[in-house]
Amino acid sequence: MRAVVCRECGNDAAVQIETLPEPVVDEHGVRIAIASTGVSFANLLVLAGKHQNTPPVPFTPGTEVSGIVIECGAKVSRFRPGDRVAASVRNGGFAELVVAPERTVYALPEAIDFDAAVQFPTIYATAYAGLVWRARVLPGDTVLVHGAAGGSGLAAIDIAKCLGARVIASVSSPLKAEACRRHGADVVINHREQSIREHVLALTDGRGAEVIFDPVGGEAFDESIRCIAPEGRLITMGFASGTIPRVPANILLVKNFDVIGLYWGYYLGWSKQAAHPREEARVRAAMAELFAWCEQGRLRPETLARYRLDDWRAALDRLAAREVIGRVVINPVASTPGPR
Ligand SMILES: NC(=O)c1ccc[n+]([C@@H]2O[C@H](COP(=O)([O-])OP(=O)(O)OC[C@H]3O[C@@H](n4cnc5c(N)ncnc54)[C@H](OP(=O)(O)O)[C@@H]3O)[C@@H](O)[C@H]2O)c1
Repeated sequence: MRAVVCRECGNDAAVQIETLPEPVVDEHGVRIAIASTGVSFANLLVLAGKHQNTPPVPFTPGTEVSGIVIECGAKVSRFRPGDRVAASVRNGGFAELVVAPERTVYALPEAIDFDAAVQFPTIYATAYAGLVWRARVLPGDTVLVHGAAGGSGLAAIDIAKCLGARVIASVSSPLKAEACRRHGADVVINHREQSIREHVLALTDGRGAEVIFDPVGGEAFDESIRCIAPEGRLITMGFASGTIPRVPANILLVKNFDVIGLYWGYYLGWSKQAAHPREEARVRAAMAELFAWCEQGRLRPETLARYRLDDWRAALDRLAAREVIGRVVINPVASTPGPR
């Protein structure tokens, strides 16, 4: 099979398409012919050797896939060849085939196409865990979403709206602002022109946002602690700005708010600390609810562009240029050339 292979992190020339042996299923493995694979900020970090999940070289990047099951291990009970699925994998997504453990494979409803599907195993799931499990958003809460037109950001807007929240979205351009409005954001702030703190305080009668979803870190995080409500919940789930923020404990004390760390990989069993046995069922229930919301038209995963496997570098460059709204995807078996 053909796959993108990284032989040295931080060296572009050492990442190329190669022909590899087909991956083999173990007893819990599900072999998937990949129709679509998500291109994410985490892929850039892994290839640079800067992500906590960077595997040893050589490896194939790509953690979120969808496609058709072609083979199942002897102990796989939930799937059989021909099933449409979405899956999380630790790596291996930029390829024609991948083997995923049954635990992180999800049956895909007919109504959800493969390109939309890649957004569920990571970004919709992470936004769900943050807003539903960890921050416990209530109807009427004001939720501030940073990086709101990115993959995680649009997912967070969709889910916050499903939960009955008022959403304030923060973005860097008019095009991104328009995307957030399409997803139901009630107010959009262009953080290049407007003060996040002033706007959030003005929109909440000086109280602040009850919940803040932060995939950006850096200045976005610093602004957050200036406009979070008492007993507010600040979900820190990514550092797209490249800056890992710090919060002094005295500020936590005087402002009565919680900073909530969130790593989705924990729920998949990818952390150094073992996942609690209940997590597998909880993840499945969350995925079922997300798919149901999508079928009801309440979640609207956006695919900005589609690339062939050969054009994987162009897909990553687009992401690095900070242009992406929603997700770009790679279709490893697509027949038409270039971005589609
Ligand atoms: N904790 C977890 O389990 C988990 C799960 C999924 C993703 N993540 C992390 O969450 C972060 C966001 O992921 P994503 O898939 O939503 O990324 P994305 O689609 O690329 O969106 C990131 C957003 O961050 C903003 N941003 C601010 N500074 C930036 C910079 N210097 N370069 C690029 N973007 C910048 C951009 O919004 P504006 O241009 O509007 O400012 C952009 O839309 C990543 O760090 C990823 O690794 C973590």
